[in-house]
Amino acid sequence: MGAERVRTYLKMAALRGMRKGLANVRLVHTTAEDLLFRCLGEGSVAAFHVYFPDPWPKKRHHKRRFFRPSNVARLAEVLAPGGLLRVKTDHEGYATVIVEVVAGEPGSYPCPATRRSRGSPRPASRSSTRARGGP
Ligand SMILES: C[S@@+](CC[C@H](N)C(=O)[O-])C[C@H]1O[C@@H](n2cnc3c(N)ncnc32)[C@H](O)[C@@H]1O
Repeated sequence: MGAERVRTYLKMAALRGMRKGLANVRLVHTTAEDLLFRCLGEGSVAAFHVYFPDPWPKKRHHKRRFFRPSNVARLAEVLAPGGLLRVKTDHEGYATVIVEVVAGEPGSYPCPATRRSRGSPRPASRSSTRARGGP
């Protein structure tokens, strides 16, 4: 299940899924926040994947970033125990903020972060950040 707020990009994602023959994809034309706070129940999701969230690099736009304490707290509530939050970004400053905000969430623990540029080979062990429960 994915959320995309821009209809054009939602259609692109849907087309990609169809071309790959994926039959288990559901896309919602809404914001990630709407999906999180209004549509998903607590402990109902095994994993969240947030790849290249808009970094909003200008300081006056930082308030638009998805990774802020209130959203991360809700991610943690909606994740099932032992659930996984996997995040990728190519913006170093935002990466630092994301790590800090997730680390501030009680019950979360980090997996080793890896650095990889877009298009370079995928490492054997991929970076991830877990939240809630687990070892
Ligand atoms: C930088 S693109 C990354 C897209 C894709 N994940 C990738 O890896 O290529 C960010 C996307 O997130 C969408 N987006 C930004 N904020 C959003 C939000 N709050 N809820 C849903 N989609 C959002 C934007 O419209 C844009 O399509």
